[in-house]
Amino acid sequence: MSSTIDSILVEDRVFPPSRAAVEGAAVPGMASYKALCDEAERDPEGFWGRLASEHLRWRKPFTRILDESRAPFYTWFEDGELNVSENCLDVHLENGNADKTAIIFEADDGTVESISYRRLHARVCRIANGMKSLGYGKGDRAIIYLPMSIEAIATMQACARLGVTHSVVFGGFSSRSLHQRIVDVGATLVFTADAQLRGGRPIALKPAVDEALAGEGGEIVRKVIVYKRSGADVAWDDGRDVWLHELEAAQSDICEPVAVESEHPLFILYTSGSTGKPKGVQHSSAGYLLWASLTSQWVFDARPGDVFWCTADVGWVTGHTYIAYGTLAAGMTQVVFEGVPTYPDAGRFWEMIQRHKVSVFYTAPTAIRSLIKAAQASPDTHPRRYDLSSLRLLGSVGEPINPEAWIWYYNNVGNGRCPIVDTWWQTETGGHILAPLPGATPLKPGSCTFALPGISAGIVNEAGEDIPNGRGGYLVIKRPWPAMIRNVWGDSKRFKDSYFPPELKGYYMAGDNAQRDSDGYYWIMGRTDDVLSISGHRLGGTEIESALVAHELVAEAAVVGRPDATTGEAIVAFVILKGRTPEGPQAEALARELRDWVASEVGPIAKPRDIRFGNNLPKTRSGKILRRLLRVVAEGQEVTQDVSTLENPDVLKQFSGVY
Ligand code: PRX
Repeated sequence: MSSTIDSILVEDRVFPPSRAAVEGAAVPGMASYKALCDEAERDPEGFWGRLASEHLRWRKPFTRILDESRAPFYTWFEDGELNVSENCLDVHLENGNADKTAIIFEADDGTVESISYRRLHARVCRIANGMKSLGYGKGDRAIIYLPMSIEAIATMQACARLGVTHSVVFGGFSSRSLHQRIVDVGATLVFTADAQLRGGRPIALKPAVDEALAGEGGEIVRKVIVYKRSGADVAWDDGRDVWLHELEAAQSDICEPVAVESEHPLFILYTSGSTGKPKGVQHSSAGYLLWASLTSQWVFDARPGDVFWCTADVGWVTGHTYIAYGTLAAGMTQVVFEGVPTYPDAGRFWEMIQRHKVSVFYTAPTAIRSLIKAAQASPDTHPRRYDLSSLRLLGSVGEPINPEAWIWYYNNVGNGRCPIVDTWWQTETGGHILAPLPGATPLKPGSCTFALPGISAGIVNEAGEDIPNGRGGYLVIKRPWPAMIRNVWGDSKRFKDSYFPPELKGYYMAGDNAQRDSDGYYWIMGRTDDVLSISGHRLGGTEIESALVAHELVAEAAVVGRPDATTGEAIVAFVILKGRTPEGPQAEALARELRDWVASEVGPIAKPRDIRFGNNLPKTRSGKILRRLLRVVAEGQEVTQDVSTLENPDVLKQFSGVY
């Protein structure tokens, strides 16, 4: 990481908002931004209370705003009741937007299907009625394992309509990961598809569900609702499996939304931590929706004619907040894409922006970096070959964007006209936390700029004391905010231990290192723990290690990340076998086998890029694996650090072969 950070810290170009960006913006100019920040500073509860009354439709108005008596188990608007789906759909049927396009869906093969708010509402109602007819309702939990589709979004909304808590599992996760989540969340219903289509190929989904449900504890799932996407043959359990289209066909277009308490869990989304199995991040209904909607309006500066496109998958938090909820609550028209950026060629994103006249485009630095490479290799896919004049705003999320990629994105995609909102946030924060406001904030390439109004971010040392600008430390959020994580599903202790270490004065600890420059701009410097960021996807080193040691030939394993010019980080696994250490073709064959093994245990995204075999791992005398030294080896560099704590300093020499 060090070279990226150095290049970021010498960056001193500043891009003030153009007049066009300021005019008509949701937050026009720094004075408006500061006024909101001051309001929140003076009276945080009054600020959030005002926004919650103005921006949400309540079934039962709240009288209390924040309850801190059980900190860090904060509650917001606790005695209020509302329905999230009503706030995302029904409100638009009454404000003249019923026939506005909600979703423009583009399939992998280029087929386009648009759906208005009115028709989306009807579909959501039919699915919700279908769920009701199968006996599901408030308090139940459902797993959603679906490809990017109108159906995925409608299903999430249908759950919200009934108060069924959903947990979406990314289609790239294996049946084992799916099984783990089904059991942990206690799901009694699963939504899936026969297959998903990506890059011209069908990838089966239903078999992974069948396998997951055959595992221990899988029998709690009563029904599997299957969306027919590819028409592929699937195994069928008559008592359990139901086709989505058959279920919907029999239902009415009207389904009364169920009012739920503000704190009712809207969803649980699993994410990787530094240790152990993935954590089920539990989000609320009202507080989450408020921030999802507000940040869509502020940061994406939602304007009436916008066509918004977030390229994330609904399996990640970005796809929850800025596809399934916030952007719908804000009444935006959005593009939803089934496929991959490189099929049929690396011009796909630019072609789609041109075709659908996208005005706000939100993607990850990894995608930008890989499209830069592709454009260099085959000039036909260069964004300048397309008409991208509809764009007015660009966004970046998930990992630090290096200034070089930022400038390329700015010049070649935005044609030097479109501000870039580099948004820092996490599964746990529910929505943007550090981000520019496009009509206000002067931008610096590589910086996510400032905290949004109402967010009391800071950088502190090990004792929770503020660190002056120009020095790195722990990124924290000092006061609670409505969209924050409410709990780790089923593990309150882990929630407290992971996010609120006592030495940090009760602040929310993000797990990122960051610093502020002399102008107060935030620069993210990477994680403080063993969490890896691969193509902007968060993976736990320990999850991959446990998968590796579950292989019959593996005795021990340590996994670290090494910087990668395209994917941010690449996974490097140091593996100790039970038998002899292999070399040459034998090592290559085994490395292939272990990669496939990890793909089947965790998912293809977790496959190690490099595997290095050795006889033992570098450990301290007390037996702790020294991952910082392995990181140096993984980068192919000479170890110059102090190795005196190592039990056996020669241990690093053995890992020379890379497979
Ligand atoms: O390290 C930060 C990085 O992604 C982590 C959160 O990952 P996840 O929960 O999967 O959510 C990703 C999408 C919101 C953070 O702890 N990260 C996210 N956005 C940025 C970032 N790092 C630098 N700049 C960003 N804009």
